[in-house]
Amino acid sequence: MNNQERYETMYRRSIDDREAFWREQAELIHWHKPFDRVLDYDNPPFAQWFPGGLTNICYNAVDRHREERGDQTAIIWVSTEVEQRLEVSYRELYRQVNEMASLLLELGIVSGDRVLIYLPMIPEAIVAMLACVRIGAVHSVVFGGFAALALASRIDDASPKLIITADAGMRGGKVTPYKPLLVEGLAAIAVERPQVLVIDRGLATTPCPIAGEIDFASAIARHAGREVAPEWVESSHPSYILYTSGTTGRPKGAQRDTGGHMVAMRQSMQWIYGVQPGEVMFAGSDIGWVVGHSYIVYAPLLTGATTILYEGLPIRPDPGIWWSLVADYRVSCLFTSPTAIRLLKKTGADWIHAHDLSSLRTLFLAGEPLDKETHRWVTEALGIPVVDNYWQTETGWPILTNFAGLGLMELKFGSPTKPAFGYDMVLLDESGAELGPNTKGSLMIRPPLPPGCMSTIWGDDARFVQTYFSSARQMLYATFDYAIYDDDGYYFIMGRNDDVINVAGHRLGTREVEEALCTHPAVAEAAAVGIQDDLKGQEIEAFVVLMSHAAIPSEDELKAVVARQIGGIAKPKFLHVVPGLPKTRSGKVIRRAILAIAEGRDPGELPTIEDAKMLDVIRDAVQHR
Ligand code: PRX
Repeated sequence: MNNQERYETMYRRSIDDREAFWREQAELIHWHKPFDRVLDYDNPPFAQWFPGGLTNICYNAVDRHREERGDQTAIIWVSTEVEQRLEVSYRELYRQVNEMASLLLELGIVSGDRVLIYLPMIPEAIVAMLACVRIGAVHSVVFGGFAALALASRIDDASPKLIITADAGMRGGKVTPYKPLLVEGLAAIAVERPQVLVIDRGLATTPCPIAGEIDFASAIARHAGREVAPEWVESSHPSYILYTSGTTGRPKGAQRDTGGHMVAMRQSMQWIYGVQPGEVMFAGSDIGWVVGHSYIVYAPLLTGATTILYEGLPIRPDPGIWWSLVADYRVSCLFTSPTAIRLLKKTGADWIHAHDLSSLRTLFLAGEPLDKETHRWVTEALGIPVVDNYWQTETGWPILTNFAGLGLMELKFGSPTKPAFGYDMVLLDESGAELGPNTKGSLMIRPPLPPGCMSTIWGDDARFVQTYFSSARQMLYATFDYAIYDDDGYYFIMGRNDDVINVAGHRLGTREVEEALCTHPAVAEAAAVGIQDDLKGQEIEAFVVLMSHAAIPSEDELKAVVARQIGGIAKPKFLHVVPGLPKTRSGKVIRRAILAIAEGRDPGELPTIEDAKMLDVIRDAVQHR
């Protein structure tokens, strides 16, 4: 059998003989008590994987390896910000995780409680995540680049008992304090105020005390040498919540289970990423995003591999830094975003060629569309296969991909190849009819979603069903992406069909940006769109209408509001104060028309527009960028 046939056989089995397929994959992890059934799908679209099984993620990611590979490095921490490197063995990780778990118990955290982790890229972040799942607590990691409003909405939704934070992170050599943002966030919450545990890195230059804060260093010292037995939880027990953006301003908490999550992670390393125990994986992402959860933390550690946790920029101190890490640590699998590669592309291939990359077998790219040019450039520069993989926070692991572990199929530039195991794809036209090859449509997945995919939206089953399963054809999962597939069954992703934008692989909702702008007292209304950008994929352009008698704020002041409320990643590149916005007669802002004009396209026929002059207002504004 060639690789194509091997894929076809396994893929067909994952759909046609689903239970047998996943039963086999489930052997890759340790079950304290075996599951009764592979799948409970009695209450569609809610899928429960491996019901009856008892297990623990931390046991699988740490304890198991301590016995077999205690001296092996689990985490290599490299910070080009504080110029430090550290290697943590599985034995040492076991010690740190147990002490942290013991501290969590002392702070009154019990199974099912939520713990919000708001930390920079330091080993303690991984230790905290593992300590949570060790005792059955549910972590919610908030990306360190998020600010007060984003934090407050996540605290309100998850109602954590504890927040773990640090004095500061660093970015590009600049200290970025965390505590002032948290203070501002806490001032805005509606739920009971959580306890706050602070890891003091000695970076913050101005003190920012938080009432009742607990100092990590002195607290953890009391737990030296303590061990905490892993809490054996049901397979469906929530392991974590990760917030992501959608059409509305309110972020959605994607809830992940325990058993399905682990099986998904393990089999993805086996078949997709092709990483074996003992090998080194480097995911250049952030633990605050799903790529970080899955491929910095859980998949490598569950596999008994070594993971690199990198704090810093990919071009600092020079654009060869990542390649030097690949050489220094004999990395076999590198994972990052197309934007990072486009950034490196600008500095030239010499930075790549200057290093011994003989250990590197495959580069994986995900998070945003990978343009053909970049795909071709990096493939030639590295001389190894470069795999585009398409997935979402919701799924936690690839939906469409090539399979380095199984044996790669032919790669086509611009295509994330074919469906991963268990994903039954459907392409629909606007009326809900199924499409064949070579026609663009909405990409859907026929449920049950495979193991590892979100089990629900935290605290809101109805919103889960309504958001993802209520398109033209009921009971299909909507990815909210347009796609097309060719005669060979290769998929091509053509962008989102909702109001989600993707800046440098960071997913944001236009509504969130608009709501942040509206917190400024002078702003009456706002519209934000994601315009095409050669480097970052998309950039944000915002249009703001002011209150009639307000003092006129500067554009920079308005941009700064977004950065302060959501974070620097959401700061609009362009912002215009305009007299009005194009709207329908029923008062809805026509973002599609704004986007078309902002990208220099014709907005087309707009039969429902209230005042067509507003299109000129937008045209005029974008001409003055
Ligand atoms: O629009 C798709 C785009 O990113 C969205 C998901 O973003 P997020 O939840 O942050 O998860 C990222 C996980 C890698 C998708 O709906 N996207 C992701 N990967 C690709 C992509 N678009 C095109 N090609 C990809 N490979």
